[in-house]
Amino acid sequence: MAIESILIVDDEEKLAKILERSLRGEGFEARAVFDASAALTALEDAAWDVVLTDLKMPGMDGLDLLARVKARRPETDVVMMTAYASAETAVEAMKRGAYDYLIKPFPVDELTMLLGRIGETRGLRQENARLREEAEERVKLDNIVARSAPMQDVLTQVRKVAKSGATVLLRGESGTGKEVLARAIHHLSARREGPLIRVNCGAIPETLLESELFGHVKGAFTGAVETREGHFKAADGGTIFLDEIAEMPPSLQVKLLRILQEGEYTRVGDSRPRQVDVRVLAATNQNLEEMMTKGTFRQDLYYRLSVVPILIPPLRERPEDIPALIEHFERRFAPKGTPPVLAPEAYDLLLRYPWPGNIRELENAIEHALVMGEGARVEITHLPLALRQWAQGGPPGGATPAISAAQPSAGTLEAMEISAIQEALAKTGGNQTRAARLLGITRRTLGYRMKKYGIASGREDDDELASPLPQDPLSPEND
Ligand SMILES: Nc1ncnc2c1ncn2[C@@H]1O[C@H](COP(=O)(O)OP(=O)(O)OP(=O)(O)O)[C@@H](O)[C@H]1O
Ligand SMILES: [Mg+2]
Repeated sequence: MAIESILIVDDEEKLAKILERSLRGEGFEARAVFDASAALTALEDAAWDVVLTDLKMPGMDGLDLLARVKARRPETDVVMMTAYASAETAVEAMKRGAYDYLIKPFPVDELTMLLGRIGETRGLRQENARLREEAEERVKLDNIVARSAPMQDVLTQVRKVAKSGATVLLRGESGTGKEVLARAIHHLSARREGPLIRVNCGAIPETLLESELFGHVKGAFTGAVETREGHFKAADGGTIFLDEIAEMPPSLQVKLLRILQEGEYTRVGDSRPRQVDVRVLAATNQNLEEMMTKGTFRQDLYYRLSVVPILIPPLRERPEDIPALIEHFERRFAPKGTPPVLAPEAYDLLLRYPWPGNIRELENAIEHALVMGEGARVEITHLPLALRQWAQGGPPGGATPAISAAQPSAGTLEAMEISAIQEALAKTGGNQTRAARLLGITRRTLGYRMKKYGIASGREDDDELASPLPQDPLSPEND
């Protein structure tokens, strides 16, 4: 990249003017100033590619100016001009980051040649930075399979939004990759060197969540024996990922809004507000719009969070991703050296199955199949029960499975969900918390769905649900 602008700093006004004129004559944007403080002002106003400065000047000298320039605008190259007598100091200047030095008097040619070299170096430097960035981006996005057009769109949004520093709300059904993308956003952002803290708002009891997020002072409540900082403080300079944001109680929603708007929070039991510099990413699989009309999710917070919403489509809406995902997970789970073989019927079933648990379910299915098939040939019998049942229920050649007579007429996905839930409950002996974990949904969502489908947990102590439950935004009846 060629040099465009050069700032000349010399207390010998005449010399500075001559250089200015001859550099302008060669097509550069050049400007002469006569002391270091004028140079600093000029550097505040604009980014100069090169600063050509005299070493000895009254007031701030060239070395001090060099330090200031490097601190403020490290991409600016500095060239020292000096009389022969102080060449040693010029060498010192190079140690401190000057690009090169010129011994006065010098022919203008020498300066022009030096500028040419600087231009080349800058070009290389920029090319390197670009390559490094590209390589980093590839590594960050390498483990994210996105063959389909809708996922390509999502990745484009992720790349753009990562750079911006904006608050992002990731939405999508369970298992669609919200967390994976949240991590990618952090790692592609300018905060990548800073911390990334994930907080699952659904997993922390309401009474503790405020203190977990914002910290507390000693004696703030029984049990607060010591002052503790919260997750926001821990994420200072980095990113906080608020997973399952819909589970955040309204009292805390206000406090989150404050931190989003003013970067300010107060620890529990404290009176002094504190500042943090944290980027917020949030995720949910809940219908926030509906929660808003019910009054369980604040409208102002909703708008503040969804400045940039990213909607991750469910796997059934992007079947083109399935083959690549199968391959991806085979590579991850297959024992080295023995590439597994999927029997055609098994492969076909993987392609046709509607994947209500999305990528997480597919990932689990492949792992399951490889274990059952002992890493060699995978037959239909090695696939998880949910898939086999779905396959058996389906009419010959059709994609719509029949459902058991006990269930009222429901669509494909509902039938799928029902059998997945029943299977999970059977595996966990009716323990809803564990079943929910197995399915990759929250216990509340599981409870909601069990109620909806009239599924009993098979355990007396575990099937009562407290509050009215929010609805899944993307469940079939809302489509
Ligand atoms: N595009 C993808 N490519 C490869 N693996 C993926 C992709 N998306 C998700 N996964 C994998 O699927 C699993 C589920 O992803 P993730 O945890 O990000 O989903 P989620 O949307 O956060 O789900 P939940 O709402 O249940 O928390 C993870 O193991 C993740 O590595
Ligand atoms: Mg998640």
